[in-house]
Amino acid sequence: MNSNNTHQSQQPSVINTSFNMNSTHLPDGQSQMGYDSASDVTPGSPTGTFSTFSMTSTMNDRVFREDGGRRFQAQNDEQELERLECQHRVFKAVQAGVNYFAPVHGNLYDGARGLDIGCGTGVWTIEMALEFPNVEWIGTDLAPVQRDLDLPDNLHFAQNDITQGLPFPDDSFDFVHSRLLVMGVRNWKAIVDEILRVLKPGGMVVMIECDFPWGLPGVPEDQWAERAKGHCKFSDYLKMAVENRGYDPQAASRTISRLMRSSGKVRGVTQIESCLPLWGWSNDPHLRRAGEIMRADAEDIPNSVKIVIQDACEVPESIYQEIKRGYLADLGRPGAHTAVPIFHNYGWKI
Ligand SMILES: C[S@@+](CC[C@H](N)C(=O)[O-])C[C@H]1O[C@@H](n2cnc3c(N)ncnc32)[C@H](O)[C@@H]1O
Repeated sequence: MNSNNTHQSQQPSVINTSFNMNSTHLPDGQSQMGYDSASDVTPGSPTGTFSTFSMTSTMNDRVFREDGGRRFQAQNDEQELERLECQHRVFKAVQAGVNYFAPVHGNLYDGARGLDIGCGTGVWTIEMALEFPNVEWIGTDLAPVQRDLDLPDNLHFAQNDITQGLPFPDDSFDFVHSRLLVMGVRNWKAIVDEILRVLKPGGMVVMIECDFPWGLPGVPEDQWAERAKGHCKFSDYLKMAVENRGYDPQAASRTISRLMRSSGKVRGVTQIESCLPLWGWSNDPHLRRAGEIMRADAEDIPNSVKIVIQDACEVPESIYQEIKRGYLADLGRPGAHTAVPIFHNYGWKI
């Protein structure tokens, strides 16, 4: 890995059991995939559409959920927030108990400024603010869903829609992070450009997303359906829904790293492939633990994406129930090593 840090994060064996690529250096200038060049980002300004809110404000009557670009009052707010926090614990378990795979320490020095875009409940940002107490942290999200907790003094949350630009001046952060924005962003070029605008030269960008379809890490793709037919069918519908809604199913594995390289403004572009196991199938202790934590959430995924799939793919209720039964049958089936593919993409602004 290309790194300018002085500490290395723990590297569990998850990387050796991943989908297609292991930790990969991506050569600058290599082009992998086309993208929508239309810009949907309004460059931000310090006086733009920016509103801060405190963690003491109650979230219960203010919660929105981002779903396919629409914001609406979520019906299962608390359940959704718990799901996000469960996913966070799964990420940490996969990452051997730490909050990053990327070599972040070199950019999180005393006095540095860190930004977490689409921070959700803020659980990752809060833990990073505690781990790096001399870094000034800001977490932004479309929705004011951050937990009502005692916040570390070095952390603030702000409401912001990244597709409208970030409300910060050029060159203002040493570190910018985003995780699982894939269902909220259509134009990744605009997002990468905006992140690079607010990063200082030498600043680090880390973008972590999932790909579609979901498969079986370490298993050749032509064997996926044979080993987990129901999972693959569900995943095919999910991918179709993502595409029909105009999102990029390969933002994680291809688009983001390609955009970092083609910007000409990022050095050391690196990709680490990982996964979130849907149940505890692995012999690797970190992956097994992650899968055990994920299992309950995994069982609920067909409920949480039901509207998305039914709307985008025009699937009748009876067919959806059949798809759901097939997916659930593969959770716990010997040999059905089902997982969500995750890619960590990072580099440093030139
Ligand atoms: C799946 S959650 C991930 C939350 C957090 N990053 C984590 O990993 O725990 C996606 C988050 O992105 C936020 N989001 C989606 N579209 C956004 C946008 N255009 N601007 C800012 N946040 C957005 C959602 O409100 C949601 O909190």
